[in-house]
Amino acid sequence: MSIQQYQLTQKGGPFALTKVPLPKPGPGQVSIRPRAVALNGIDWKNLAFGAIIRSYPAVLGIDASGVVEAVGEGVTAFKAGDEVMSYAHGIIGQGAFAEVYTVAQHEVAKKPSGLSFEQAVSLPVIFLTAAATIVVGLNVELPGLSKLSNPNQPKSILVLGGSSGVGASAIQLLRIALPSVTIITTSSAPHHAHLKSLGANVVLERSAQSDAAALKAATPGGAGVDAVIDTVGAGPDSPAVFEAIKADGPKLYALVVTRPDAKLPAGLQSTLVGAENILKQEPTALQYLVKIVEEGKFKLPIKIEVVGKGFEAIEKGLGRFPANVSGTKLVVTL
Ligand SMILES: NC(=O)c1ccc[n+]([C@@H]2O[C@H](COP(=O)([O-])OP(=O)(O)OC[C@H]3O[C@@H](n4cnc5c(N)ncnc54)[C@H](OP(=O)(O)O)[C@@H]3O)[C@@H](O)[C@H]2O)c1
Repeated sequence: MSIQQYQLTQKGGPFALTKVPLPKPGPGQVSIRPRAVALNGIDWKNLAFGAIIRSYPAVLGIDASGVVEAVGEGVTAFKAGDEVMSYAHGIIGQGAFAEVYTVAQHEVAKKPSGLSFEQAVSLPVIFLTAAATIVVGLNVELPGLSKLSNPNQPKSILVLGGSSGVGASAIQLLRIALPSVTIITTSSAPHHAHLKSLGANVVLERSAQSDAAALKAATPGGAGVDAVIDTVGAGPDSPAVFEAIKADGPKLYALVVTRPDAKLPAGLQSTLVGAENILKQEPTALQYLVKIVEEGKFKLPIKIEVVGKGFEAIEKGLGRFPANVSGTKLVVTL
């Protein structure tokens, strides 16, 4: 039996729909037939620059929601027919842009009740990455997921890129983790009210990232921030961000892996993080996501825009990056 894969044939494209044998899940794995896939900046970077792809053809796609096709030996939490969402391995060219793809069981969770496939697919990688910035990057406990590892908790945190999917997720998770922390974030004006509704105390224009005085003025007593979560890799180009870090504070800096050349100044407790970090440290992370969504503690972080149906809509949708994606998750239904 065969299925179709939407294969990237070389850096820059084109894509080709190609028949391959139906993938069979190995021990501890789950195969999934996606009903919706999300388009992420990483997919665009892999298409445009071949970012982390080592060989072609490559299958992109790091978020999918759909129906379990089959489960491998030892998998008891899922069965064929379950509606699920998952992280997938498009970063290395073994992703979800296919009629059926396979992942490890801890990379899958039941689709939260009340969410459509199009809504659920917007969540996995941005949630995982945001959770990694907090738990791995700042050593802050997420109650119900991780244990407290840093008794010296930050009291003020700057989230760069609040309207990104990772940023809007991090704001909500910070509010769960540290109910009284001061959260300052940056975004374009259309997203300010939404980011406040998710838990940010102060939302500044992106231009404030070059204005240390404006950043410091937003912190309690003008003292500066204890920690930065940089979801968009903006800090390495913005010296003002470092000037806004409190000189006698913990100087925590969680930097999401966004590009290979991002360098931070010395003297910070900095950590580079991505989605894989939290899956490794807390394998139940996606089950935790389902729980907080169903409890109403974690809302859809950004808007969803369905850009088309069928594999061909993927290439057109990826053409929207990076300039024409703001506070929105692009989704393709299959
Ligand atoms: N390594 C990993 O595992 C991993 C996983 C997920 C994401 N990432 C990376 O993390 C980054 C965020 O991902 P995402 O999916 O959350 O992105 P996204 O939602 O596509 O990000 C778009 C948003 O980023 C904001 N933005 C872009 N550049 C900015 C800057 N210099 N300063 C402030 N805001 C900026 C824009 O804000 P405005 O339009 O409001 O200005 C826009 O709303 C991407 O670079 C992605 O490749 C890495």
